[in-house]
Amino acid sequence: METTSKAKLILFLGVLLFSSYSTVALQCVSCDSSKDITCVGNGLSLSLPNVTCSTECMVSINSFGDTIRGCSIGENPCEGNALCETCSSDICNGGIFPDDRLKCLQCDDCYNSTSFPLPTYCQNYLDNDQCFTYFDPTSLSTSRGCVSSPPFALCGNCLYEKCSYDGCNTLQPEISNFTCYDCIGSDGDCIDGQNLESTRCAHGNTCLVRYDNTSRTVYRDCVAFENEECSDDDLANGFCKTCSTENCNGGIFPEDRLLCLQCQGKNGTDCYNGTSKSSACSRIQKFDRCYSYIDHQDIMHRGCESDDYCEGSESCIYCSLDGCNNISGNGESPSEPNVGTFSCFSCAGNDVACLLGSVPTQPCEHGNKCLMKVNADKSIERRCVSSLFETCENKTTCETCDGNMCNGGVFPKDGAELFYMIKIRV
Ligand SMILES: *[C@@H]1O[C@H](CO)[C@@H](O)[C@H](O)[C@H]1NC(C)=O
Ligand SMILES: *[C@@H]1O[C@H](CO)[C@@H](O)[C@H](O)[C@H]1NC(C)=O
Ligand SMILES: *[C@@H]1O[C@H](CO)[C@@H](O)[C@H](O)[C@H]1NC(C)=O
Ligand SMILES: *[C@@H]1O[C@H](CO)[C@@H](O)[C@H](O)[C@H]1NC(C)=O
Ligand SMILES: *[C@@H]1O[C@H](CO)[C@@H](O)[C@H](O)[C@H]1NC(C)=O
Ligand SMILES: *[C@@H]1O[C@H](CO)[C@@H](O)[C@H](O)[C@H]1NC(C)=O
Ligand SMILES: *[C@@H]1O[C@H](CO)[C@@H](O)[C@H](O)[C@H]1NC(C)=O
Ligand SMILES: *[C@@H]1O[C@H](CO)[C@@H](O)[C@H](O)[C@H]1NC(C)=O
Repeated sequence: METTSKAKLILFLGVLLFSSYSTVALQCVSCDSSKDITCVGNGLSLSLPNVTCSTECMVSINSFGDTIRGCSIGENPCEGNALCETCSSDICNGGIFPDDRLKCLQCDDCYNSTSFPLPTYCQNYLDNDQCFTYFDPTSLSTSRGCVSSPPFALCGNCLYEKCSYDGCNTLQPEISNFTCYDCIGSDGDCIDGQNLESTRCAHGNTCLVRYDNTSRTVYRDCVAFENEECSDDDLANGFCKTCSTENCNGGIFPEDRLLCLQCQGKNGTDCYNGTSKSSACSRIQKFDRCYSYIDHQDIMHRGCESDDYCEGSESCIYCSLDGCNNISGNGESPSEPNVGTFSCFSCAGNDVACLLGSVPTQPCEHGNKCLMKVNADKSIERRCVSSLFETCENKTTCETCDGNMCNGGVFPKDGAELFYMIKIRV
């Protein structure tokens, strides 16, 4: 029973619809540019699919920039969308919409006018759209299009020129012969700046090398755009450099990286003998040092203090000149650091220079610690620790520190104490 009444209803509605068709019979273009790019209007609008509509035709741009054509639906179909129009003659929604839609050259492998196509409307509609010319100096490929549909991968050292009127993207890219080294890395050749490949620059004649202290990564490349410069902070820290001769961005960077032997090995290896090559420490740390350490299995470990291998270990032997951790594990044990590679400020007395710590330094014979101390008679002492095991008994009046020349500056740091000491001298 129910099925029969449903069937009757459907039949009734069908008759109703049929009668409204036969009275209005308006033809409208129906398409969606996200599914059919001819919907933009680059082709002949007559070849687009038609539908029969009961009230009006409509064309609009949705929030993704797609062009939608079809029947107008509801009372105010364009409400809230400035990019929308209705009209009521056959195929009236088939023209270019909106009128000011930009045309650009859209092509791949089109280096110059020999291979230019005619400009065509941009597929996506974007207010203030622009045309682009994109040139990759490595592959020497040129592509052109609308900024609203950019090339999916924009390389840093590629040309990406934009312009703003119909068909303006006709620039013929310059093919430069200027090259720079090109790598990204936090170890090996990119840090040492050796065995690098160079790349043709898209423009200009400036190379760049930059160190990122957070990721400990070195970047080498051509400058990415004409006005690219190092930041003031990076310049001040020596973390960025630009230069303008071919492949000038090679070499160890930052330039003042410490070099240490960095290896592990048993007796009989270059590492154990201290004859292996040194390389740049991967972290940048002020007062970094090289270390050597022989573990209980007689394996030699060498590296940079900043690699944290030694963390807290008393048995690591430190020194602080490039390649200084090269004492052989045989014969002389590496239990003594290289004399002369580690120094501390050195003075004794209560003259102002010793109070302020602006005194000469002295190479240390033992260990890798410096010491500052106020004696009972208020005189100051600055020196290397006298043995590997010397520590401060009274931490209020004595301090040791870990690092090359770490015992400079006012001591004790309490200004009142300093004032008092200067005063009693007068
Ligand atoms: C669309 O409408 C136009 C104009 O009425 C007509 O010439 C054309 O044949 C129609 N196209 C289709 C696919 O119905
Ligand atoms: C375009 O480039 C090709 C190859 O570089 C060259 O042979 C041709 O003459 C150029 N055409 C124009 C119009 O410059
Ligand atoms: C690049 O080098 C080639 C061949 O060495 C030369 O013909 C060309 O003029 C050079 N281009 C520029 C921009 O210097
Ligand atoms: C670089 O990073 C280290 C920690 O890895 C930090 O100790 C040092 O202060 C940083 N240097 C600069 C100049 O920011
Ligand atoms: C290392 O090996 C050599 C022989 O190759 C030997 O004379 C020396 O004693 C060994 N050193 C140690 C610390 O075992
Ligand atoms: C290390 O030194 C020992 C002698 O001290 C020598 O016999 C050996 O060949 C050296 N090994 C290497 C790899 O240089
Ligand atoms: C260790 O390195 C220093 C400086 O890098 C060098 O002067 C010295 O000759 C080296 N010592 C050995 C035993 O190779
Ligand atoms: C350390 O020295 C200060 C100043 O001379 C003194 O007041 C303090 O008692 C000393 N502390 C110890 C633990 O000896």
